Amino acid sequence: KTAEAALKDVFADGFKIGAAVSSGTIRTQENLLTRHFNSLTAENEMKFENIHPSEDVYAFGESDTIVDFARRHGMAVRGHTLVWHNQTSDWLFQEADGRPVGKGVLLERLRSHIETVVGRYKDDIYAWDVVNEAVADEGDELLRPSKWLEIAGPDFIAKAFEFAHEADPTARLFYNDYNESHPHKRDKIYALVKSLLDQGVPIHGIGLQAHWNIFDPSLDDIRAAIEKYASLGLELQLTELDVSVFRFDDRRTDLLEPEPGMLERQAEVYEAVFRLLKEYRGTVSSVTFWGAADDYTWLDDFPVRGRKNWPFLFDERHLPKSAYYRVAQLAEM
Ligand code: G3I
Repeated sequence: KTAEAALKDVFADGFKIGAAVSSGTIRTQENLLTRHFNSLTAENEMKFENIHPSEDVYAFGESDTIVDFARRHGMAVRGHTLVWHNQTSDWLFQEADGRPVGKGVLLERLRSHIETVVGRYKDDIYAWDVVNEAVADEGDELLRPSKWLEIAGPDFIAKAFEFAHEADPTARLFYNDYNESHPHKRDKIYALVKSLLDQGVPIHGIGLQAHWNIFDPSLDDIRAAIEKYASLGLELQLTELDVSVFRFDDRRTDLLEPEPGMLERQAEVYEAVFRLLKEYRGTVSSVTFWGAADDYTWLDDFPVRGRKNWPFLFDERHLPKSAYYRVAQLAEM
């Protein structure tokens, strides 16, 4: 394999290589996507408020465009996401007169949503992030406060998996979360998923979002998280990988170019991460980046609006960065 090998070929024996896309980036990044990636996730287009903006209205246009693109190019699709506290339409939690709905109505609406969305893409979407980010980051509480929890109690999680399994019995069903490698949250995610398994809930995998930066988390913490989740006997996927060049608390807005050393350090991190992932091939079945190249990333608006970031293996012109070369050379090992 040459130095400019397609990423999907470099890891063909290990895991799929995915990218998050929009109906726009499948045009602006088409060549890069079809050359290096064999899996896609819709960055926003399948989220509740996008795909089901009011009770009687489903808006499938943009998500269909992405699924059609994947089908034309023989790419797998991961579905993202069915239950989340964010980007979820207000109508779902309210009666027509504005009063909050009860648990029965909410769960029936959820069932109907999942039946419609998962059912529509049965032939194309092989894996779903069924529940996204339900665990609390800090403190002793297991679950984060949300409308879901307030109205339905913790049952909404098991129900979502049951509904998804009914809608497509062959789909791989994931619990997906971030800060997944920090020990405190890792242990809570583990406890949640273990309790679902103990109740016989149909759950097949854990999605490690992997929104990392060049300083954090440590490789030891990433390894420990993979080990702990894998001990449940589940399939693992990295679902939203990016390696920000900024520390989590770095709020500077004045960098028009990366500082010296940032991209070198990023390349080292990416190499170390993919070396580790190679060790866990078989357990880790897919690695999706939350974008494809540095011309577009959600990190350009987070945590500071309009601050440029450079988190991927390909630069703003879609050319390979030193991180790409460090990762691609793992083909020979
Ligand atoms: O669609 C509107 C558009 O009409 C409007 O002109 C524009 C103006 O700001 O906003 C557009 O909506 C934005 C949307 O992305 C589409 O670009 C929202 O403001 C913005 O908040 C939204 O951000 C998304 C974010 O989820 C929302 O929480 C990011 O693109 C997306 O990358 C991000 O993805 C999440 C995963 O789903 C879950 N894990 C964390 C990850 C990063 O936050």
